[in-house]
Amino acid sequence: MNMAEYKIICMTFAIRGIQVQKIKRVMVLAGKNVIITGATSGIGKEALLALAGENANIVMPVRNLEKGGHVREHVVKKTGNSSITPLECNLSSLNSIRRFAAAYKKRYGMLHLLINNAGTWQSKRKETEDSIEMNFGVNHLAPFLMTNLLLDELRAGAPSRIINVSSNAHMYGRINFNDLEGRKKFSGIRSYGQSKLANILFTRHLAEKVKKDNITVNCMHPGVVATNLFDQLNPVIRKIMRPFMISPRKGAETLVYLSASPDIEKVTGEYFIKKKVRNPFPAARNKKDAERLWEISREYTGL
Ligand SMILES: NC(=O)c1ccc[n+]([C@@H]2O[C@H](COP(=O)([O-])OP(=O)(O)OC[C@H]3O[C@@H](n4cnc5c(N)ncnc54)[C@H](OP(=O)(O)O)[C@@H]3O)[C@@H](O)[C@H]2O)c1
Repeated sequence: MNMAEYKIICMTFAIRGIQVQKIKRVMVLAGKNVIITGATSGIGKEALLALAGENANIVMPVRNLEKGGHVREHVVKKTGNSSITPLECNLSSLNSIRRFAAAYKKRYGMLHLLINNAGTWQSKRKETEDSIEMNFGVNHLAPFLMTNLLLDELRAGAPSRIINVSSNAHMYGRINFNDLEGRKKFSGIRSYGQSKLANILFTRHLAEKVKKDNITVNCMHPGVVATNLFDQLNPVIRKIMRPFMISPRKGAETLVYLSASPDIEKVTGEYFIKKKVRNPFPAARNKKDAERLWEISREYTGL
């Protein structure tokens, strides 16, 4: 479609009282293949609803297929889009991620949008199936492996997008190369902060690597959102925080914008808050740390 035809379609819809912005978004996602992790709850569930409403074909990697099935039913009922498929994937197991990626490759071949949204906040030290500290394993190594395993499919679907859900909590973290997994000394907030800092370093490094392939990579902070992420917080603190939190739907807005908006087609390697590019904290702009973390993550995941 050329620009003139596009304008005529927009004008026609505008005359019929449909927002031009909405039409632009539909054109970006309809019929496209999307993977969104962590779509069974919170921000991911709201983003899933919005993307399903845009008629995308969506695959949900889920650790609990029954829960995934219930969410699918709810979304199909609300949007009428039945191309929503939960597939088993436990992000705290590197093997489970490999199995998921292999199943996806076989069934779909091409990928247009990968959203690494799933996350956890463990305030006490816990380990994954591979004996890796949980915040580091689920929040950083899992999206690192998942993304790398699906790069060929993203190339096949180019122009394609990767979005990593990070957090402003990256300000509490530093990449502690001497003790990445908090084996010597553990702090929940530092460990979570480190994993969210790793999301930004990963985003920026990967963005450079795949620029030539017409794949964009961006990350974002959703705001402080009332979700299950804070389940481990003291109930009194949760109660105090509650009035300052935004709803999951509001928290998903930037994620949906990054998924669908044509405005950011060429934008890559950036950190977004409230749909705007923002400078992350200086530790997230350290290129040497990004390279070093990349190599260590490759070793961890056996890539
Ligand atoms: N909430 C906030 O204020 C806030 C602020 C900044 C950033 N974030 C980020 O936003 C993202 C979404 O979090 P949320 O707030 O929506 O939290 P949430 O309601 O707890 O949702 C987390 C999602 O991740 C999934 N998940 C967790 N561990 C998994 C595993 N091992 N395997 C597969 N899936 C797993 C959960 O699946 P189950 O349904 O099976 O549990 C759930 O779907 C996270 O990356 C978080 O760090 C949140």
